[in-house]
Amino acid sequence: MGKMKIIVTGTGYVGLVAGVCFAEKGYDVTCVDVDEEKIEKLSNGISTIYEEGLEELLKKNIKKGNLHFTINYKDAYKDADVIFIGVGTPEGKDGAANLFYVETVSRQIAETIEKDCLVVVKSTVPVGTNDKVETFIKEDLVNNVKVEVASNPEFLSQGHAVRDTFEAKRIIIGTNSQKAEKLLKEIYEPFNLPIVSVSRRSAEMIKYACNNFLALKISYMNDIANLCELVGADINEVATGMSYDNRIGADFLRAGIGYGGSCFPKDTKALKYLAKQNDYTLRTVQSAIEINEEQKIKLYKKACERLNTFEGSKVAILGVAFKVGTDDLREAPSLINIDLLLERGANIYAYDPVAIENLKKRYSTRIHYTTNIEEAIKDSNVCFIFTEWEQIKEFKPRKYKELMKMPIIYDGRNIYDTKEMKENKIEYYSIGR
Ligand code: UDX
Repeated sequence: MGKMKIIVTGTGYVGLVAGVCFAEKGYDVTCVDVDEEKIEKLSNGISTIYEEGLEELLKKNIKKGNLHFTINYKDAYKDADVIFIGVGTPEGKDGAANLFYVETVSRQIAETIEKDCLVVVKSTVPVGTNDKVETFIKEDLVNNVKVEVASNPEFLSQGHAVRDTFEAKRIIIGTNSQKAEKLLKEIYEPFNLPIVSVSRRSAEMIKYACNNFLALKISYMNDIANLCELVGADINEVATGMSYDNRIGADFLRAGIGYGGSCFPKDTKALKYLAKQNDYTLRTVQSAIEINEEQKIKLYKKACERLNTFEGSKVAILGVAFKVGTDDLREAPSLINIDLLLERGANIYAYDPVAIENLKKRYSTRIHYTTNIEEAIKDSNVCFIFTEWEQIKEFKPRKYKELMKMPIIYDGRNIYDTKEMKENKIEYYSIGR
Protein backbone atom coordinates (compact mmCIF):
# COMPACT_ATOMS: atom_id res chain seq x y z
CA MET A 1 0.00 0.00 0.00
CA GLY A 2 1.25 3.52 -0.81
CA LYS A 3 0.88 6.44 1.51
CA MET A 4 -2.36 6.13 3.43
CA LYS A 5 -4.99 8.60 2.32
CA ILE A 6 -6.93 10.09 5.21
CA ILE A 7 -10.04 12.21 4.83
CA VAL A 8 -11.42 14.28 7.66
CA THR A 9 -14.88 15.67 7.18
CA GLY A 10 -15.96 18.69 9.23
CA THR A 11 -13.39 21.37 10.01
CA GLY A 12 -14.56 22.47 13.46
CA TYR A 13 -12.48 21.86 16.56
CA VAL A 14 -12.58 18.10 16.31
CA GLY A 15 -12.03 17.71 12.57
CA LEU A 16 -9.56 20.48 11.94
CA VAL A 17 -7.29 19.58 14.82
CA ALA A 18 -7.38 15.88 13.88
CA GLY A 19 -6.65 16.65 10.22
CA VAL A 20 -3.72 18.91 10.98
CA CYS A 21 -2.25 16.48 13.50
CA PHE A 22 -2.52 13.47 11.14
CA ALA A 23 -0.79 15.54 8.46
CA GLU A 24 1.96 16.44 10.92
CA LYS A 25 2.50 12.69 11.43
CA GLY A 26 3.15 12.36 7.70
CA TYR A 27 -0.22 11.20 6.37
CA ASP A 28 -1.76 12.54 3.19
CA VAL A 29 -4.78 14.36 4.62
CA THR A 30 -7.70 16.08 2.95
CA CYS A 31 -10.17 18.04 5.06
CA VAL A 32 -13.69 18.42 3.71
CA ASP A 33 -16.31 20.96 4.73
CA VAL A 34 -19.45 22.44 3.15
CA ASP A 35 -18.49 25.95 4.24
CA GLU A 36 -16.71 27.46 1.24
CA GLU A 37 -15.41 30.48 3.09
CA LYS A 38 -13.85 28.30 5.78
CA ILE A 39 -12.19 26.04 3.22
CA GLU A 40 -10.83 29.06 1.36
CA LYS A 41 -9.27 30.47 4.52
CA LEU A 42 -7.84 27.15 5.64
CA SER A 43 -6.36 26.47 2.18
CA ASN A 44 -4.48 29.74 2.60
CA GLY A 45 -3.08 28.63 5.92
CA ILE A 46 -5.37 30.77 8.04
CA SER A 47 -6.82 28.99 11.05
CA THR A 48 -10.56 29.47 11.53
CA ILE A 49 -10.35 28.82 15.26
CA TYR A 50 -8.13 30.26 17.96
CA GLU A 51 -5.94 27.35 19.05
CA GLU A 52 -2.39 27.52 20.28
CA GLY A 53 0.10 26.12 17.75
CA LEU A 54 -2.55 25.14 15.21
CA GLU A 55 -1.94 27.74 12.53
CA GLU A 56 1.77 27.03 12.51
CA LEU A 57 1.22 23.32 11.84
CA LEU A 58 -1.48 24.16 9.31
CA LYS A 59 0.88 26.33 7.26
CA LYS A 60 3.76 23.90 7.60
CA ASN A 61 1.82 20.89 6.36
CA ILE A 62 0.11 22.71 3.51
CA LYS A 63 3.57 23.74 2.34
CA LYS A 64 4.84 20.19 2.66
CA GLY A 65 1.93 19.00 0.52
CA ASN A 66 0.48 16.75 3.26
CA LEU A 67 -2.63 18.77 3.88
CA HIS A 68 -5.43 19.78 1.52
CA PHE A 69 -8.82 21.40 1.91
CA THR A 70 -11.84 21.02 -0.32
CA ILE A 71 -15.61 21.34 -0.53
CA ASN A 72 -15.68 18.65 -3.19
CA TYR A 73 -16.49 15.62 -1.05
CA LYS A 74 -17.01 13.34 -4.04
CA ASP A 75 -13.42 13.56 -5.22
CA ALA A 76 -12.14 13.38 -1.68
CA TYR A 77 -14.09 10.29 -0.60
CA LYS A 78 -13.83 8.16 -3.71
CA ASP A 79 -10.36 6.69 -3.15
CA ALA A 80 -10.00 7.28 0.60
CA ASP A 81 -8.51 4.62 2.85
CA VAL A 82 -10.00 6.14 5.97
CA ILE A 83 -12.66 8.79 6.49
CA PHE A 84 -12.91 10.45 9.90
CA ILE A 85 -16.26 12.06 10.61
CA GLY A 86 -15.81 15.18 12.72
CA VAL A 87 -18.97 17.12 11.94
CA GLY A 88 -21.03 18.82 14.63
CA THR A 89 -23.73 17.15 16.69
CA PRO A 90 -25.58 20.20 17.98
CA GLU A 91 -28.08 20.11 20.77
CA GLY A 92 -31.52 19.36 19.42
CA LYS A 93 -34.97 19.22 20.91
CA ASP A 94 -35.17 17.91 24.53
CA GLY A 95 -31.37 17.99 24.73
CA ALA A 96 -30.98 15.07 22.32
CA ALA A 97 -27.95 15.29 20.01
CA ASN A 98 -28.94 16.27 16.49
CA LEU A 99 -27.47 13.70 14.11
CA PHE A 100 -28.47 15.36 10.87
CA TYR A 101 -24.91 16.15 9.76
CA VAL A 102 -23.62 12.72 10.70
CA GLU A 103 -26.37 11.11 8.67
CA THR A 104 -25.82 13.38 5.67
CA VAL A 105 -22.12 12.64 5.59
CA SER A 106 -22.73 8.90 5.97
CA ARG A 107 -25.01 8.88 2.96
CA GLN A 108 -22.59 10.97 0.91
CA ILE A 109 -19.84 8.50 1.72
CA ALA A 110 -22.05 5.61 0.62
CA GLU A 111 -22.78 7.27 -2.69
CA THR A 112 -19.20 8.11 -3.58
CA ILE A 113 -16.65 5.60 -2.31
CA GLU A 114 -15.08 3.42 -4.96
CA LYS A 115 -12.84 1.24 -2.81
CA ASP A 116 -12.89 -0.53 0.56
CA CYS A 117 -12.81 2.03 3.29
CA LEU A 118 -12.83 2.53 7.04
CA VAL A 119 -15.22 5.16 8.38
CA VAL A 120 -14.34 6.48 11.82
CA VAL A 121 -16.77 8.52 13.91
CA LYS A 122 -14.88 11.13 15.93
CA SER A 123 -17.80 13.41 16.72
CA THR A 124 -19.41 12.95 20.12
CA VAL A 125 -22.46 10.83 19.36
CA PRO A 126 -25.02 8.98 21.49
CA VAL A 127 -24.55 5.29 22.11
CA GLY A 128 -25.77 3.36 19.09
CA THR A 129 -24.91 6.01 16.50
CA ASN A 130 -22.06 4.02 14.99
CA ASP A 131 -24.55 1.24 14.30
CA LYS A 132 -26.78 3.79 12.61
CA VAL A 133 -23.90 5.14 10.53
CA GLU A 134 -23.17 1.61 9.38
CA THR A 135 -26.82 1.14 8.41
CA PHE A 136 -27.00 4.48 6.56
CA ILE A 137 -23.90 3.61 4.57
CA LYS A 138 -24.95 0.05 3.79
CA GLU A 139 -28.40 1.22 2.69
CA ASP A 140 -27.05 3.73 0.20
CA LEU A 141 -23.87 2.05 -0.96
CA VAL A 142 -23.52 2.41 -4.73
CA ASN A 143 -20.38 0.45 -5.54
CA ASN A 144 -19.48 -3.07 -4.55
CA VAL A 145 -17.03 -2.17 -1.79
CA LYS A 146 -16.59 -3.11 1.87
CA VAL A 147 -17.02 -0.48 4.57
CA GLU A 148 -16.10 -0.79 8.23
CA VAL A 149 -17.32 1.67 10.85
CA ALA A 150 -15.38 2.43 14.03
CA SER A 151 -15.75 4.83 16.93
CA ASN A 152 -12.79 6.95 17.98
CA PRO A 153 -13.89 9.74 20.33
CA GLU A 154 -11.52 12.60 21.10
CA PHE A 155 -10.86 14.19 24.47
CA LEU A 156 -9.26 17.44 23.49
CA SER A 157 -9.93 20.55 25.42
CA GLN A 158 -10.18 23.95 23.74
CA GLY A 159 -7.12 26.11 24.10
CA HIS A 160 -4.68 23.21 24.08
CA ALA A 161 -6.28 20.97 21.48
CA VAL A 162 -3.03 20.35 19.58
CA ARG A 163 -1.10 19.39 22.68
CA ASP A 164 -4.00 17.22 23.86
CA THR A 165 -3.91 15.36 20.54
CA PHE A 166 -0.19 14.62 20.53
CA GLU A 167 -0.07 13.92 24.26
CA ALA A 168 -3.48 12.29 24.68
CA LYS A 169 -3.82 10.21 27.85
CA ARG A 170 -5.22 7.41 25.71
CA ILE A 171 -6.69 6.67 22.31
CA ILE A 172 -10.07 4.96 22.47
CA ILE A 173 -10.76 2.62 19.61
CA GLY A 174 -14.26 1.19 19.43
CA THR A 175 -14.74 -1.52 16.85
CA ASN A 176 -16.63 -4.70 16.30
CA SER A 177 -14.16 -5.94 13.72
CA GLN A 178 -10.54 -7.00 14.02
CA LYS A 179 -9.71 -5.56 10.63
CA ALA A 180 -10.89 -2.09 11.61
CA GLU A 181 -9.13 -2.34 14.94
CA LYS A 182 -5.87 -3.28 13.27
CA LEU A 183 -6.06 -0.42 10.78
CA LEU A 184 -6.84 2.20 13.44
CA LYS A 185 -3.99 0.95 15.61
CA GLU A 186 -1.70 1.31 12.63
CA ILE A 187 -2.87 4.88 12.01
CA TYR A 188 -2.19 5.85 15.61
CA GLU A 189 1.15 4.05 15.82
CA PRO A 190 3.23 7.17 15.07
CA PHE A 191 1.57 8.96 18.00
CA ASN A 192 2.99 6.39 20.40
CA LEU A 193 0.15 6.66 22.92
CA PRO A 194 -1.71 4.08 25.04
CA ILE A 195 -4.54 2.52 23.07
CA VAL A 196 -7.70 1.16 24.69
CA SER A 197 -9.63 -1.11 22.40
CA VAL A 198 -13.28 -1.69 23.24
CA SER A 199 -16.64 -2.34 21.58
CA ARG A 200 -18.24 0.45 19.58
CA ARG A 201 -20.96 1.10 22.11
CA SER A 202 -18.51 1.20 24.99
CA ALA A 203 -16.35 3.69 23.09
CA GLU A 204 -19.36 5.93 22.53
CA MET A 205 -20.24 5.70 26.22
CA ILE A 206 -16.68 6.38 27.41
CA LYS A 207 -16.79 9.82 25.83
CA TYR A 208 -20.05 10.77 27.53
CA ALA A 209 -19.08 9.17 30.82
CA CYS A 210 -15.87 11.22 30.90
CA ASN A 211 -17.41 14.57 30.09
CA ASN A 212 -20.33 13.99 32.42
CA PHE A 213 -18.01 12.94 35.22
CA LEU A 214 -16.02 16.16 34.86
CA ALA A 215 -19.21 18.22 34.78
CA LEU A 216 -20.33 16.41 37.94
CA LYS A 217 -17.00 17.11 39.58
CA ILE A 218 -17.37 20.84 38.90
CA SER A 219 -20.98 20.93 40.07
CA TYR A 220 -20.00 19.00 43.19
CA MET A 221 -17.36 21.61 43.99
CA ASN A 222 -19.86 24.38 43.37
CA ASP A 223 -22.32 22.65 45.67
CA ILE A 224 -19.71 22.34 48.40
CA ALA A 225 -18.66 25.96 47.77
CA ASN A 226 -22.18 27.15 48.43
CA LEU A 227 -22.17 25.22 51.68
CA CYS A 228 -18.73 26.62 52.57
CA GLU A 229 -20.17 30.12 52.38
CA LEU A 230 -22.89 29.19 54.83
CA VAL A 231 -20.58 27.58 57.37
CA GLY A 232 -17.59 29.90 57.07
CA ALA A 233 -15.15 27.64 55.24
CA ASP A 234 -13.10 28.62 52.18
CA ILE A 235 -13.59 26.46 49.05
CA ASN A 236 -10.13 27.30 47.72
CA GLU A 237 -8.54 25.93 50.88
CA VAL A 238 -10.87 22.96 50.80
CA ALA A 239 -9.95 22.21 47.17
CA THR A 240 -6.24 22.43 47.97
CA GLY A 241 -6.72 19.99 50.80
CA MET A 242 -8.64 17.62 48.56
CA SER A 243 -6.19 17.81 45.70
CA TYR A 244 -3.48 15.84 47.51
CA ASP A 245 -5.62 12.73 47.47
CA ASN A 246 -4.88 11.13 44.15
CA ARG A 247 -8.04 9.10 44.31
CA ILE A 248 -9.77 12.45 43.85
CA GLY A 249 -7.18 14.11 41.64
CA ALA A 250 -6.10 17.73 41.56
CA ASP A 251 -7.91 18.81 38.38
CA PHE A 252 -11.41 20.20 37.95
CA LEU A 253 -11.75 21.20 41.57
CA ARG A 254 -12.22 24.88 40.86
CA ALA A 255 -15.53 26.19 42.08
CA GLY A 256 -16.84 29.18 40.19
CA ILE A 257 -19.48 30.57 37.93
CA GLY A 258 -20.37 27.16 36.48
CA TYR A 259 -19.19 25.24 33.44
CA GLY A 260 -19.86 26.36 29.89
CA GLY A 261 -18.48 25.62 26.44
CA SER A 262 -19.46 23.45 23.55
CA CYS A 263 -19.23 20.12 25.39
CA PHE A 264 -20.30 19.88 29.03
CA PRO A 265 -23.69 21.62 28.76
CA LYS A 266 -24.57 19.69 25.62
CA ASP A 267 -23.19 16.32 26.67
CA THR A 268 -24.85 16.33 30.09
CA LYS A 269 -28.21 17.01 28.48
CA ALA A 270 -27.62 14.39 25.80
CA LEU A 271 -26.76 11.71 28.36
CA LYS A 272 -29.77 12.62 30.47
CA TYR A 273 -31.89 12.28 27.35
CA LEU A 274 -30.33 8.94 26.43
CA ALA A 275 -31.18 7.64 29.90
CA LYS A 276 -34.74 8.91 29.63
CA GLN A 277 -35.17 7.20 26.28
CA ASN A 278 -34.28 4.00 28.07
CA ASP A 279 -36.70 4.67 30.92
CA TYR A 280 -33.92 5.50 33.33
CA THR A 281 -33.36 8.68 35.32
CA LEU A 282 -29.73 9.69 35.63
CA ARG A 283 -30.11 11.49 38.95
CA THR A 284 -26.47 12.43 39.38
CA VAL A 285 -26.26 14.17 36.02
CA GLN A 286 -29.67 15.75 36.51
CA SER A 287 -28.39 17.37 39.72
CA ALA A 288 -25.18 18.51 38.08
CA ILE A 289 -27.20 20.30 35.40
CA GLU A 290 -29.48 21.97 37.95
CA ILE A 291 -26.62 23.13 40.13
CA ASN A 292 -24.86 24.56 37.10
CA GLU A 293 -27.90 26.51 35.98
CA GLU A 294 -28.24 28.11 39.40
CA GLN A 295 -24.52 28.69 39.76
CA LYS A 296 -24.35 30.78 36.62
CA ILE A 297 -26.59 33.48 38.08
CA LYS A 298 -25.60 33.21 41.71
CA LEU A 299 -23.50 36.37 41.74
CA TYR A 300 -26.04 38.29 39.69
CA LYS A 301 -28.69 37.47 42.28
CA LYS A 302 -26.41 38.56 45.10
CA ALA A 303 -25.74 41.81 43.28
CA CYS A 304 -29.46 42.40 42.79
CA GLU A 305 -30.01 42.19 46.53
CA ARG A 306 -27.10 44.45 47.31
CA LEU A 307 -27.66 47.12 44.67
CA ASN A 308 -31.44 47.21 44.24
CA THR A 309 -31.20 48.60 40.72
CA PHE A 310 -28.91 48.54 37.70
CA GLU A 311 -30.85 51.18 35.79
CA GLY A 312 -28.29 53.51 34.21
CA SER A 313 -25.40 52.04 36.27
CA LYS A 314 -22.07 51.46 34.61
CA VAL A 315 -21.38 47.76 34.97
CA ALA A 316 -17.90 46.45 34.15
CA ILE A 317 -17.59 42.87 32.92
CA LEU A 318 -14.12 41.37 32.92
CA GLY A 319 -13.82 38.17 30.90
CA VAL A 320 -16.61 36.76 28.75
CA ALA A 321 -15.11 33.60 27.15
CA PHE A 322 -16.42 30.35 28.67
CA LYS A 323 -12.89 29.67 29.85
CA VAL A 324 -9.34 30.92 29.52
CA GLY A 325 -7.42 30.36 26.27
CA THR A 326 -10.35 30.57 23.86
CA ASP A 327 -12.50 33.18 22.14
CA ASP A 328 -15.46 30.79 22.25
CA LEU A 329 -18.67 32.11 23.79
CA ARG A 330 -20.80 29.02 23.40
CA GLU A 331 -22.76 28.49 26.63
CA ALA A 332 -20.47 30.95 28.39
CA PRO A 333 -21.90 31.81 31.83
CA SER A 334 -21.15 35.48 31.07
CA LEU A 335 -23.95 35.61 28.47
CA ILE A 336 -26.93 34.94 30.70
CA ASN A 337 -25.55 37.52 33.12
CA ILE A 338 -25.18 40.13 30.39
CA ASP A 339 -28.74 39.41 29.23
CA LEU A 340 -30.14 39.78 32.73
CA LEU A 341 -28.19 42.96 33.40
CA LEU A 342 -29.34 44.44 30.10
CA GLU A 343 -32.92 43.64 30.95
CA ARG A 344 -32.48 45.66 34.11
CA GLY A 345 -31.12 48.67 32.29
CA ALA A 346 -27.40 48.28 33.00
CA ASN A 347 -24.85 50.16 30.95
CA ILE A 348 -22.37 47.39 30.23
CA TYR A 349 -18.65 47.83 29.50
CA ALA A 350 -17.04 44.51 28.62
CA TYR A 351 -13.39 43.53 28.48
CA ASP A 352 -11.92 40.27 27.19
CA PRO A 353 -8.44 39.85 25.69
CA VAL A 354 -9.64 37.61 22.83
CA ALA A 355 -13.42 37.15 22.76
CA ILE A 356 -14.52 40.75 22.12
CA GLU A 357 -15.05 40.22 18.38
CA ASN A 358 -17.43 37.34 19.04
CA LEU A 359 -19.20 39.37 21.69
CA LYS A 360 -19.73 42.17 19.18
CA LYS A 361 -21.43 39.76 16.80
CA ARG A 362 -23.90 38.95 19.53
CA TYR A 363 -24.62 42.28 21.19
CA SER A 364 -23.69 44.82 18.52
CA THR A 365 -24.39 48.31 19.94
CA ARG A 366 -26.30 47.08 22.97
CA ILE A 367 -23.16 47.07 25.11
CA HIS A 368 -19.78 48.84 25.09
CA TYR A 369 -16.51 47.10 24.26
CA THR A 370 -13.19 48.02 25.80
CA THR A 371 -9.60 47.13 25.01
CA ASN A 372 -8.30 47.25 28.55
CA ILE A 373 -9.42 46.71 32.13
CA GLU A 374 -9.01 50.35 33.19
CA GLU A 375 -11.41 51.54 30.52
CA ALA A 376 -14.01 48.96 31.57
CA ILE A 377 -13.92 49.68 35.30
CA LYS A 378 -13.40 53.47 35.25
CA ASP A 379 -16.29 55.17 37.11
CA SER A 380 -18.24 51.93 37.20
CA ASN A 381 -20.73 51.13 39.95
CA VAL A 382 -19.98 47.44 40.01
CA CYS A 383 -17.68 44.89 38.37
CA PHE A 384 -18.24 41.23 37.48
CA ILE A 385 -15.41 38.81 36.69
CA PHE A 386 -16.40 35.80 34.57
CA THR A 387 -13.14 34.44 33.09
CA GLU A 388 -9.85 34.08 34.91
CA TRP A 389 -7.60 35.64 32.28
CA GLU A 390 -3.99 36.30 33.29
CA GLN A 391 -4.47 40.00 32.50
CA ILE A 392 -7.20 40.19 35.13
CA LYS A 393 -5.27 38.10 37.66
CA GLU A 394 -2.33 40.47 37.34
CA PHE A 395 -4.46 43.58 37.70
CA LYS A 396 -3.77 45.21 41.05
CA PRO A 397 -6.69 45.37 43.53
CA ARG A 398 -5.88 48.95 44.53
CA LYS A 399 -6.66 50.05 40.98
CA TYR A 400 -10.28 49.03 41.37
CA LYS A 401 -10.45 51.23 44.43
CA GLU A 402 -8.86 54.09 42.52
CA LEU A 403 -10.89 53.81 39.33
CA MET A 404 -14.34 52.55 40.22
CA LYS A 405 -17.10 54.81 41.43
CA MET A 406 -18.05 52.18 43.99
CA PRO A 407 -15.48 49.41 44.48
CA ILE A 408 -17.86 46.45 44.48
CA ILE A 409 -16.64 43.29 42.78
CA TYR A 410 -18.43 40.00 42.08
CA ASP A 411 -15.74 37.49 41.14
CA GLY A 412 -17.00 34.25 39.59
CA ARG A 413 -13.50 32.79 39.37
CA ASN A 414 -12.05 33.41 42.83
CA ILE A 415 -9.11 35.28 41.35
CA TYR A 416 -8.23 37.51 44.27
CA ASP A 417 -7.13 37.01 47.82
CA THR A 418 -10.00 37.97 50.11
CA LYS A 419 -7.67 39.53 52.70
CA GLU A 420 -5.98 41.71 50.13
CA MET A 421 -9.34 42.93 48.90
CA LYS A 422 -10.34 43.83 52.44
CA GLU A 423 -7.10 45.72 52.97
CA ASN A 424 -7.84 47.70 49.82
CA LYS A 425 -11.32 48.50 51.11
CA ILE A 426 -13.02 46.73 48.24
CA GLU A 427 -16.38 45.09 48.72
CA TYR A 428 -15.55 41.72 47.30
CA TYR A 429 -17.85 38.75 46.72
CA SER A 430 -16.56 35.48 45.31
CA ILE A 431 -17.64 31.83 45.32
CA GLY A 432 -17.55 29.64 48.41
CA ARG A 433 -15.51 31.84 50.69
C1 UDX B 1 -14.11 19.64 27.74
C2 UDX B 1 -13.29 18.41 28.18
O1 UDX B 1 -12.27 18.83 29.10
C3 UDX B 1 -12.69 17.69 26.98
O2 UDX B 1 -12.01 16.52 27.40
C4 UDX B 1 -13.81 17.32 26.02
O3 UDX B 1 -13.30 16.66 24.88
C5 UDX B 1 -14.59 18.56 25.62
O4 UDX B 1 -15.08 19.24 26.79
P1 UDX B 1 -13.57 22.16 27.07
O5 UDX B 1 -15.04 22.35 26.91
O6 UDX B 1 -12.68 22.69 26.03
O7 UDX B 1 -13.23 20.61 27.19
O8 UDX B 1 -13.15 22.88 28.43
P2 UDX B 1 -12.74 22.49 29.93
O9 UDX B 1 -11.39 23.00 30.19
O10 UDX B 1 -13.01 21.09 30.24
O11 UDX B 1 -13.73 23.44 30.76
C6 UDX B 1 -15.15 23.34 30.64
C7 UDX B 1 -15.85 24.32 31.55
O12 UDX B 1 -15.69 23.97 32.92
C8 UDX B 1 -15.35 25.77 31.45
O13 UDX B 1 -16.44 26.64 31.47
C9 UDX B 1 -14.49 25.93 32.68
O14 UDX B 1 -14.36 27.25 33.09
C10 UDX B 1 -15.22 25.07 33.68
N1 UDX B 1 -14.38 24.56 34.79
C11 UDX B 1 -13.34 23.72 34.54
C12 UDX B 1 -14.67 24.92 36.10
O15 UDX B 1 -15.62 25.67 36.36
N2 UDX B 1 -13.90 24.40 37.10
C13 UDX B 1 -12.86 23.57 36.89
O16 UDX B 1 -12.21 23.16 37.85
C14 UDX B 1 -12.57 23.22 35.55
